Amino acid sequence: MNPHEPESGTGTPAETAPEWGAPAEPELWREEFPYTATGEELVLRRDFTRYLLAASGAFAAGAAGAAVWAGMRRANVGEPRAVVDLAEVPEGGDHLFAYPTEQDPAILVHLPGGELRAFSQKCTHLGCVVFWQSDQDRLFCPCHEGVFDPRTGDPTAGPPDRPLERIEVAVRDGVVWALGAADGEP
Ligand code: FES
Repeated sequence: MNPHEPESGTGTPAETAPEWGAPAEPELWREEFPYTATGEELVLRRDFTRYLLAASGAFAAGAAGAAVWAGMRRANVGEPRAVVDLAEVPEGGDHLFAYPTEQDPAILVHLPGGELRAFSQKCTHLGCVVFWQSDQDRLFCPCHEGVFDPRTGDPTAGPPDRPLERIEVAVRDGVVWALGAADGEP
């Protein structure tokens, strides 16, 4: 055996080391995710700003649409309609009816002294139904003990912070009529 020949199976340094200057193989993860840390930050900031603007625009459009819808609903509801004969609702009594649609519970109260008031029966807190309590001269919501003034619909106790929606009423030939949503003072 020639002492200057390498032993079989060990190879020369030129056979085992990568060729000097050959292009390195790109890592697989870099092919699939070709962002640098700086670029990634820019992309995230840009996208975040875009999403923020889109969300703000959508929210503003939704709020405007809801306001328009609420305004139209108040303006359009409440066609005049006969509710009940006044003789059926003695002073101090009440009468439940539906107004302006069959899905809208409402309450007519014949106040002590003779005045009539009508309101949506939906509590302005979370929408439970309010009842007339003649012995305490109040409209009461049993869900969270909300109390409303039966003359104005204003909340006087409990969590509600908005008045009940008032319905204009009038008596024509002994019949109580609902005339639409009433705004302003009674
Ligand atoms: S729903 Fe009427 S007080 Fe809460």
